[in-house]
Amino acid sequence: MQEFDPHVLEEKAVPPPLEFSKGARVKSLDEYRRIFDRAAGDPEGFWAEQAEQLDWFEPYTQVLEWKSPHAKWFVGGKLNVAHNCLDRHVAKNPARMALIWEAEDGAVVRLTYAQLHERVCRFANALKSLGVKDGDCVAIYMPMIPELPVAMLACARIGAIHSVVFGGFSATALSDRIADAKAKILVTADGGYRRGRVVPLKDTADAALKNCPTIEKSVVVKRTGEKVAWESSRDLWWHDLEKSASKDCPATSLDSEHPLYILYTSGTTGKPKGVLHTSAGYLLQCMWSMQLVFDLRDSDVYWCTADIGWVTGHSYIVYGPLANGATVVMYEGAPDHPAKDRFWQIVEKYKVSIFYSSATAIRAFMSWGMDWLNKHDLSSLRVLGTVGEPINPAAWKWYNGAIGKGRCPIVDTWWQTETGAIMISPLPGATPAKPGSATLPIPGVAAKVVNLQGRPVAPGETGYLTIQKPWPAMLRTIYGDDERYAREYWRRIPGVYFAGDAAQCDKDGYIWVLGRVDDVIKVAGHRLSSMEIESALVSHTSVAEAAVVARPDDIKGEAIVCFVTLRSGHSPSGQLRSALMEHVAVTIGSIARPADVRFCDLLPKTRSGKIMRRLLRELAHKGGISGDTTTLEDMGVIERLAKSQGQDEE
Ligand code: WTA
Repeated sequence: MQEFDPHVLEEKAVPPPLEFSKGARVKSLDEYRRIFDRAAGDPEGFWAEQAEQLDWFEPYTQVLEWKSPHAKWFVGGKLNVAHNCLDRHVAKNPARMALIWEAEDGAVVRLTYAQLHERVCRFANALKSLGVKDGDCVAIYMPMIPELPVAMLACARIGAIHSVVFGGFSATALSDRIADAKAKILVTADGGYRRGRVVPLKDTADAALKNCPTIEKSVVVKRTGEKVAWESSRDLWWHDLEKSASKDCPATSLDSEHPLYILYTSGTTGKPKGVLHTSAGYLLQCMWSMQLVFDLRDSDVYWCTADIGWVTGHSYIVYGPLANGATVVMYEGAPDHPAKDRFWQIVEKYKVSIFYSSATAIRAFMSWGMDWLNKHDLSSLRVLGTVGEPINPAAWKWYNGAIGKGRCPIVDTWWQTETGAIMISPLPGATPAKPGSATLPIPGVAAKVVNLQGRPVAPGETGYLTIQKPWPAMLRTIYGDDERYAREYWRRIPGVYFAGDAAQCDKDGYIWVLGRVDDVIKVAGHRLSSMEIESALVSHTSVAEAAVVARPDDIKGEAIVCFVTLRSGHSPSGQLRSALMEHVAVTIGSIARPADVRFCDLLPKTRSGKIMRRLLRELAHKGGISGDTTTLEDMGVIERLAKSQGQDEE
């Protein structure tokens, strides 16, 4: 296993703010332990108790059917996810605010639960009119606009499976995902806005659709009004469909295990995996974790700054908050547009009380300085969250002091696309925090740090983070590839879920997630695979071989460094370097744009021909050789490194 920096383990515990604990749902570490122990003693009974919070159309007959590695939760039960997110709140309080959407230019759309319900029903009927039936897949490639959650909930209402593809992905990435999921319909927009500029989403979608024979219709939201190409046999305007659709659309009664969505994520190979989530268990854990981890109340205004194209947006902008009947703020654009106080302006304007963001964003705010914060009243904030990557203690302390003013507990939440919902996190009124640690598993979750034989490692020793028992929101499989699902997650350490993260456990049982042990790179919390970037590079005519590693980055956590050897007839130049960076951005999406491309005459390999990434990582970390990086890498350095490292690699 690669080396991880153990410095973080030394941090001292920071107790939850006293005033907060007094009024919290869970008020002390003892109370947390009581709930945790009860859940650990009878996880099924515990989750069954929580499941009483869902509206069931038909009761389930068995809480869990576990035929490792395949789980079914709430077997035989029938419900509808959209009904649980909308109808039951409409019945109680139709005027309650569901979604407050802030456009990048400051325009606002407010939708009450009744209004959101009506829009979802209309679009669900529109999908039906296009022939979408339960079990069909609908691909969604959209900017952060209200129609995105509407489209997702409309699918859920009629039992269609959505596959949201992040709007920053390229045409190739989109068409690969559409093909794998065999999507019938694409929902997209004419464009979106980013830092005041139009992002021509439909152009990219059209390019993707050249290679998507399964797509029958493409539904287009008019967001920018820019002129777009139009394929009249395929393209339909969202507003035309919505206008002519009826607002009555009863929620289909669906099995607990009915697929809700596929979300593609990067793994250990070049091929993204379609993580499949189903209905009841997923919704339950999203809903319940919000209550516990964010201490959610009716009076809260909740804002998660993620993009819905990633799992955080699925679980903690759409399903978790809406299942709770929460008021959700959704923002279209960038944190620094028109100025670097945009987020604080939004917090002040809507009196946001729960703010859930990423370590990368926090580090960026930190680097922008206090003046931006001091302009705004942030006193409405009461809970702060972070997700997606380890947060360094310095950023944690800044978040706590500068934004939370020491009044707001910070919940550092560890989870994954695959886990569906939060797994390890402090409970804000109960768990003393240690800056940099996600602390303790939430009740009902059996997390352990073990060695490859599955035995717990001693405090302070590095091991692998595992989940020992099935949990309701777990992925059910990799879409179309049960074998890969079993192999990647359940066979590495037999019988338990292998998360792919290195971790340590300290003497208090606190879990410190150190980083990935596989080829996943986290750039600004976005999950990318080094193999995917390598295949993009070798698809360029000049590249013979490529190896991609991450180096630490002060703001983004990690940055991408590529080592390439060139085909004969090509030689290193600054121009080629920029061309390769651009090529990766165009092939995968701009989030994958490398920070650096280095040319070498050969890549360091073991005797058996495996690339020695550890050496490259070290070279990338050290900043490498000074001088012009477009010239050939000094292989003497690699040789010296190789000698000091030995032959073995991964
Ligand atoms: C990392 C994001 C440290 C981890 C919800 C995990 C974290 C991967 C944390 C999943 C955290 C997520 N502390 N590392 N609080 N949260 N990670 O699928 O490496 O995009 O395996 O899901 O992010 O990334 P994914």
